[in-house]
Amino acid sequence: MHSIPKVVLITGGAGFIGSHLASALLRHGCKVTILDNLNDFYSPELKKVNLAEIGRAGDFDFVFGDICDRAAVRDVVARLRPGALVHLAARAGVRPSVENPVLYYETNVTGTAHLLEACRDFEVPKVVFASSSSVYGTRSATPFREDALLLSPASPYAATKLAGEAMLHSFVNCYGLQGIALRFFTVYGPRQRPDLAINKFVRLIGNSAPIQLFGDGNSARDYTWVEDIVSGALAAMAYAPPNGYDVFNLGNSQPISLERMVTLIEEAMGKRAIRQYTNHAAGDMMVTCADIAKAQGLLGYRPSTTIAEGIRRFVGWALEQSAATLTSSVPDLAGVV
Ligand SMILES: NC(=O)c1ccc[n+]([C@@H]2O[C@H](COP(=O)([O-])OP(=O)(O)OC[C@H]3O[C@@H](n4cnc5c(N)ncnc54)[C@H](O)[C@@H]3O)[C@@H](O)[C@H]2O)c1
Repeated sequence: MHSIPKVVLITGGAGFIGSHLASALLRHGCKVTILDNLNDFYSPELKKVNLAEIGRAGDFDFVFGDICDRAAVRDVVARLRPGALVHLAARAGVRPSVENPVLYYETNVTGTAHLLEACRDFEVPKVVFASSSSVYGTRSATPFREDALLLSPASPYAATKLAGEAMLHSFVNCYGLQGIALRFFTVYGPRQRPDLAINKFVRLIGNSAPIQLFGDGNSARDYTWVEDIVSGALAAMAYAPPNGYDVFNLGNSQPISLERMVTLIEEAMGKRAIRQYTNHAAGDMMVTCADIAKAQGLLGYRPSTTIAEGIRRFVGWALEQSAATLTSSVPDLAGVV
């Protein structure tokens, strides 16, 4: 295993996963720069709170900028000349991509191309790209293996992640940089995006408001604790793919039904949910489940947080946030219970 590059550029570092990764890299002794446009997909105030949290792990540089701005991207990469780019900035979320596919394309594909081009021109040796379990689409057999044929993306978001992987792979083939795509499986934990189910449900149940369940409650997700994802990403940053390019699933390999997930939240909160069932949403997959043998073998990836433990910890974090919001000048946490 090689070591983690010392100088790292993280796009999307003010977001949920990026803020955890940035803190871990600072604790590791890296020089970290974050490029993020703090967009309003969810409250930019929450992203400022994330940046403040990162600051507790050490000093870092923040560049306010958009990956769709080619000149700005070139400027930051040229100045920094990082040993690795970790590219997390994206329009995330399956359902909004069904509403607004072009926006997703511009950020996730064109923005990725700008970054890759700058990495080529300023000789960044390694790129780690945040891909998604959604690339497995509607036809892959479970558990999903990295060598599955990926021909049926269920949403525009999934298509942009597939395109991002393909762009990265083509840059490895044409220009010789190292590229690693990480397919994250439904990540949860403190600072989780407010649009994602666990965070949304905890907030609504806390407020005694109904929760909407798409489908009959039997769809299943391979929920993965954010610190497990971070340990996999750190291992990937220290990995040199023998052929220049590689792709890994970072999941938990333990899919949980929607119904079971809600029950676990109810148990952790000591409160019943008001369930409302609605139609299966366009773009959603029925089940996700990672085969993690490859990541275990080559990265030493070992997710260790069970869903029951993770939900208990998430609920504890949400309650702490709520108490802090009531008693101090911590910025408004947009309704977190
Ligand atoms: N959270 C999950 O379950 C999950 C699962 C699979 C893949 N992913 C991928 O992991 C990455 C991080 O996800 P997250 O959940 O932390 O999302 P997030 O929305 O919390 O973080 C993304 C960050 O990127 C920034 N950003 C978006 N567009 C930008 C642009 N044009 N220029 C600069 N910055 C921009 C946002 O402001 C945000 O801070 C994304 O690429 C996402 O697609 C996440």
